[in-house]
Amino acid sequence: MALIGGKVRIAMKSSNQDAAVAIESRKADYKNAMACLGAAINIVTTDGVGGRAGFAATAVCSVTDNPPTLLVCVNRSSSVYSVVKENKTLCVNVLDGAHKELSKLFGGKTSVDERFSSGIWKESANGLPILEGALASLDCRIKSGIDVGTHEVFLCEVVSIRTKDDGNALIYFNRDYYVIEPRTCDMHTALR
Ligand SMILES: Cc1cc2nc3c(=O)[nH]c(=O)nc-3n(C[C@H](O)[C@H](O)[C@H](O)COP(=O)(O)O)c2cc1C
Repeated sequence: MALIGGKVRIAMKSSNQDAAVAIESRKADYKNAMACLGAAINIVTTDGVGGRAGFAATAVCSVTDNPPTLLVCVNRSSSVYSVVKENKTLCVNVLDGAHKELSKLFGGKTSVDERFSSGIWKESANGLPILEGALASLDCRIKSGIDVGTHEVFLCEVVSIRTKDDGNALIYFNRDYYVIEPRTCDMHTALR
């Protein structure tokens, strides 16, 4: 009996291992596919009762222009998640080509103070950190969120916008940084 029980246990362990390997393989395939999806890099900031925080993010997407709404995906295991959640506000700073090093700083395991010690930071009308020289800064109020796997998808209503007329785009593609120039999109026209 003990031997049979032992065999059953070994078989179960093996099937659990197979499932774990299959999940890891599916994750790797997905990540490789996402590396093909070039995306603008943003620094998402927040401030308020939960404190100040900021992180690099590519999972930012326009939802609608009426009311102006952005979707921002935040990893629930990141240090910034609870801060964003408590503040219920965030500002999406769309990075210029000159912000590559700043992007690395905000995308790494660095302290909040270290992150904000680089770059020129001003305050939005709602008291959120705005990056001087960003292509656009969109000050948002979080309206709702939905948990999806490791992340929470926040739907954010844009309450104020700042843009600049010139600059280049900073794009993350194939796990590396690229600068797109000249900038072909007139932000002011696009926002009218
Ligand atoms: C290019 C790039 C894009 C990223 N995009 C996202 C994102 O969309 N959402 C997110 O939650 N984290 C994203 N990250 C990871 C966060 O920036 C990172 O978790 C955070 O800065 C460091 O983790 P910590 O806050 O736990 O210290 C990205 C990182 C890089 C380098």
